[in-house]
Amino acid sequence: MQEQIQTISKEFQSALTKIKDVKEMTALKQEFLGKKGSVSSLMSQLKDLEPETRKAIGGQLHALRQEIESELNSFRQQLERNQVNEKLQASWEDPSSRGSLFDQGVSEAGLHPMSQILNEVLEIFTSMGFEVLDGPHIEDDFHNFTALNIPDSHPARDLQDTFWFEDGKHLLRTHTSGLQIRGMKDRTPPVKFIGPGQVFRCERTDQWHDFSFFQLEGLLIDKGISVAHLLYFAKTLFEEIFRSEVEIRTRPSYFPFVEPGLEIDMRRDGGKWVEMLGSGMIHPRVLTHMGVDPDEYSGFAFGLGLDRLLLMRYGVEDIRHLRSGDLRFVKQFATYKAGGATC
Ligand code: FA5
Repeated sequence: MQEQIQTISKEFQSALTKIKDVKEMTALKQEFLGKKGSVSSLMSQLKDLEPETRKAIGGQLHALRQEIESELNSFRQQLERNQVNEKLQASWEDPSSRGSLFDQGVSEAGLHPMSQILNEVLEIFTSMGFEVLDGPHIEDDFHNFTALNIPDSHPARDLQDTFWFEDGKHLLRTHTSGLQIRGMKDRTPPVKFIGPGQVFRCERTDQWHDFSFFQLEGLLIDKGISVAHLLYFAKTLFEEIFRSEVEIRTRPSYFPFVEPGLEIDMRRDGGKWVEMLGSGMIHPRVLTHMGVDPDEYSGFAFGLGLDRLLLMRYGVEDIRHLRSGDLRFVKQFATYKAGGATC
């Protein structure tokens, strides 16, 4: 009977390579596992065997049955995958083959207002000699928290509700401050850089808060840097962006990587105060992490909310418009028209 089991296994393997669709698969299953199938007919002979042999052969038949079932399942899954891939292949169209949007009758196009304001901010900072850095959206625990003086058990981790990956070590960055650490790996003071980018927080949305938004990190380290320099840069930036005088005010705040920590609010024409950035003097422990001697150098860092800047600049009433994908919203910021740029 052992030989018969081996023969059935071989026959099944060879038949499996020849089937092509669900119909043939069902027939094959019937042929081997159906009531009159080869495995079942061997099963029915078990009762005539000695108890010891019955146990051993019964085990082998059971294993054969499981092997056949699992191979047929894999075949079915492969068939389903092939069908999905075929559908995708059939519907694939190379978007670049359609020509430009203007050729397709789209009369207006342009950069998203976030790109427009980001370009302006970059120009202002680069004209003041700041380097521009980039960093990953998927950050590790070390750069997002630990190196910024936020250890595992620190309550400050709750300030930024986090989208964690299943490994518990990686996350969607909750702020751009990890760039402070990345940027200082291969730089020594005097140094000044900015780093814009998207950040993600697992939080409820409202007019001023979204679960994904843009920040611009800024860092400057040199000898004799104080809060006065930080306030100068913040005010200069706002006045350049709004092309008018603005008021700023500071409020004490807590970020474990700066000391003291400040929140900077801004308002125009006596209007409503809006919190624009978190900032402060870089904590001596963080400077040490960066390989900088805190007795010789000091520096400031800030994280500016670019979405808030955009809302105030253009008078947009709700942050959620920005990523709504609603063409009626973005068309108001169109910068190019067919036949020539408007600005
Ligand atoms: C931070 O994220 C700190 N990393 C900032 C910082 C950098 C402090 C360097 C010290 C030194 P905060 O959570 O306050 O801080 O966010 C900074 C700015 O991002 C806020 O002032 C605000 O303008 C913007 N912001 C925060 N949460 C949201 C949100 N949900 N939607 C839109 N903008 C937001």
